[in-house]
Amino acid sequence: MNAHSQDPIRVGMLFSETGVTSVIETSERMGTLLAIEEINDAGGIDGRPLEVVRYDPQSRPVLYREYAERLMAEDGVRIILGCYMTSTRRAVIPVLERWNGLLLYPTVYEGFEYSRHVIYTGAAPNQNSVQLAEFMMRAFGSRVWLLGSDYMYPYESNRIMSDLVLERGGEKVAEQYLPLDARRDDYEAMIRQIKKAAPDFIFSTVVGEGTAMLYRAYADAGLDPSRMPIASLTTCEAEIQQMGAAVAAGHITSAPYFQSVDTEANRRCVAAFHRRFGDDHVTNQCWEAAYFQTHLLANAMRRVGPDSVAALLGALQGSEFEAPQGLVRVDEQNHHCYLRPRIGRADAHGQFEILEEAREWVRPDPYLVSHTLEDWSVKVRLEPSKVEPA
Ligand code: ACM
Repeated sequence: MNAHSQDPIRVGMLFSETGVTSVIETSERMGTLLAIEEINDAGGIDGRPLEVVRYDPQSRPVLYREYAERLMAEDGVRIILGCYMTSTRRAVIPVLERWNGLLLYPTVYEGFEYSRHVIYTGAAPNQNSVQLAEFMMRAFGSRVWLLGSDYMYPYESNRIMSDLVLERGGEKVAEQYLPLDARRDDYEAMIRQIKKAAPDFIFSTVVGEGTAMLYRAYADAGLDPSRMPIASLTTCEAEIQQMGAAVAAGHITSAPYFQSVDTEANRRCVAAFHRRFGDDHVTNQCWEAAYFQTHLLANAMRRVGPDSVAALLGALQGSEFEAPQGLVRVDEQNHHCYLRPRIGRADAHGQFEILEEAREWVRPDPYLVSHTLEDWSVKVRLEPSKVEPA
């Protein structure tokens, strides 16, 4: 083996360490780093370690674009692990197109997108929104109040949820947005309006710092999650740690992974994570996708080498990995992943009790062409009495 063959293989990493989404993106960064350490400890890619080149884009789309450009133009990197908000993914895609790069994107998003330059490892709407709409309407009722942060993911995700609710004979009570930097007062004012209107449930697409403010405003108003919970696709263990377990308890999230998932791979992975980063850190769906996508990438590099994006794309398509949530697979046609939908209810310890889950993975259908819940398995059935308005 010559010296050259042991040179590190550089990959870019763009997760915000500051700004409104830094909590969840820090978690994505730790999931990525855990996987990279595992890969390097196991000998890297044929003896070559992976080396991360990372910048802090501060939760600002313009910096994602600038740093993606720098990674390609100056650092010679073609593969980026990163991005949380849809606005940041969208900022990076033109750079990837220009340089023929590849983004592995570990975040739940609104779907209705395909890029040859992106592998999407978070849930698509047929893997979380459909399940959540069905569950909430069955358990709580059909009048929904939609609220979100003021950018693309919440608009699109709320549109999908309102279509799903209206299609099933439900009612959209209101739809409102607050800026990403909204303050506690803004959330309190919104909660006062919601209390008055008394919908059956709230669908929140608020992300980042606002999440804790929303749930705290809800708790402070004395509202009862067993009667009118907040349902979300993004509020996970990391946000709950920020707001406090008591504030989150009883609210509902739909996601393919929770820290409480009972698989051998998850137990091993959570233990390794705690050994490496400390027991006070929690895992979550974005952490898990960041972790498994890095292993998928390393396996693809072992098969076809690290240098050609075209060859790596070919190797990634159809590839599988035994992830903490269960086996996952990259779809050959749409670049999204087969994932295992689940519905969780936040408990008193900052974890989720898994109420329902798919028996098998669900093929990603990012354009929501069709969907089925035939493989759905109910673990805990909530009482129909919860349907009555507060
Ligand atoms: C998101 O903006 N995809 C959470």
